[in-house]
Parts: sequence; structure tokens; C-alpha cells
Amino acid sequence: MIGRLNHVAIAVPDLDAATATYRDTLGARVSDPLALPEHGVTTVFVELPNTKIELLHPLGETSPVARFLEKSPSGGIHHVCYEVDDIEAAAARLRREGARVLGEVKTGAHGKPVLFLHPKDFCGTLVELEQA
Ligand code: CO
Repeated sequence: MIGRLNHVAIAVPDLDAATATYRDTLGARVSDPLALPEHGVTTVFVELPNTKIELLHPLGETSPVARFLEKSPSGGIHHVCYEVDDIEAAAARLRREGARVLGEVKTGAHGKPVLFLHPKDFCGTLVELEQA
């Protein structure tokens, strides 16, 4: 069911510093920051030849990334995103399999439908599905 790795997301306490690390130290192409208030994050995408890295910084008081950074103040891997062809079919299959689908389908950072899956059902890793 899952296809390509769309991105790995890393929560960062300082978005400018993290962007500079990827752009200047690692020599990667980086996007401008994009605020996503409905997700409680500001993102910068690092474009790699075979996938992307999503730098995540909290936006607003109730950001889930703020809680993540309280536990991991220097940042860390927050989620991985896999592509699926049909997100509603994927959600239905996962619910049938007994996996915990978190909330409903939302529009993600690329303007495409996304869904999150509970880390306890997926090897301790928060999983995002994106309809490619
Ligand atoms: Co993501």
C-alpha cells in the first residue's frame, strides 16, 4: 500500500539555524519558510535528489511540535511520510486492521491530503501518509 518515502520531518528549536545548517553546512537546496497554522507548524523543506527533509518549528501555543521539543530540546526526528495512491482507501484499510488513525484527512504542506497514524502502532514512529 505505501509507496515512496515523501519526507522525513525533523523538529527544530531554531528554524533559521536549522535552515542554515542544511543550506550552508550540508549544501542542500532549501525552501522559504511556510506557515501552516492549521497544523501548528512553520516548515522549511530541504530538497534532496530522492526525498525531502521537512524542518518543523512550532507555530502557536497548542503546537504538537512544542510538546515534542519540551521532551527533546535540541530537536529530533518527528515523523516519516509515505506516499499512498488513495488516502481514503488507506485510512479505511488501516482502521480495519485496527491501527489508530489520528483525526481526519487534512491538507498538508504540499496542498495534498495527509493523515497521521499513531506511533504506538508503527514501531514508535509517528507516520504521515500523503496522497501523491
Ligand atoms: Co510531514
